[in-house]
Amino acid sequence: MAARGASATALKQVAQEARSCTLCPLYRNATQTVFGEGPVGAALMMVGEQPGDQEDLAGHPFVGPAGRVLDRALSEAGIERREVYLTNAVKHFKNEPRGKKRLHKRPNRYEVEVCRVWLGKEIALVQPRLILALGVTAAVTLAGRPVVLSRERGRLVTLAEGRRGMVTIHPSSILRVPDAAARRAAFASLIEDLKSAAKQAVA
Ligand code: URA
Repeated sequence: MAARGASATALKQVAQEARSCTLCPLYRNATQTVFGEGPVGAALMMVGEQPGDQEDLAGHPFVGPAGRVLDRALSEAGIERREVYLTNAVKHFKNEPRGKKRLHKRPNRYEVEVCRVWLGKEIALVQPRLILALGVTAAVTLAGRPVVLSRERGRLVTLAEGRRGMVTIHPSSILRVPDAAARRAAFASLIEDLKSAAKQAVA
């Protein structure tokens, strides 16, 4: 328990350091660093791509539209969000200002690579039993190799440094499915993957 307290303190210090991160240029267009949240010792860690517009403004991961999809899926899967460590591969919102809007842009390999230092520290301090990658950016970052989601989703995979992981779709992809029935099916498949991840995290 004392070790867990020390890790929690260390994690807070790392989050504090990350606030002034300038390792790549993404901080210039972002409001703030959005660090991971959740308990040290969480059995399950989930990793998304990067904060979106609302996360950037609020300073918390998964609080926008994708976060609402994830919250619904977690609840349907019987998983308490506060028991999961939730973070992103990249800690700043990559965007392109367009009028009053900020358009989401996918982080490039360099940005993902340099930001890996923060994710590495989160993993080392949280020590999750299983890491679930939400979407391909997180999957590639965590696995350190190309990942085809449709082929690998929902089953145990070995991540970099031998960690146990699983991959699934990103919750925001569900919002982009135009057909209602297909959207329901995609959502149901996410729930199934979350259930498998929760089961494997305590196995
Ligand atoms: N998408 C992500 O990948 N992460 C967030 O925190 C929000 C949206």
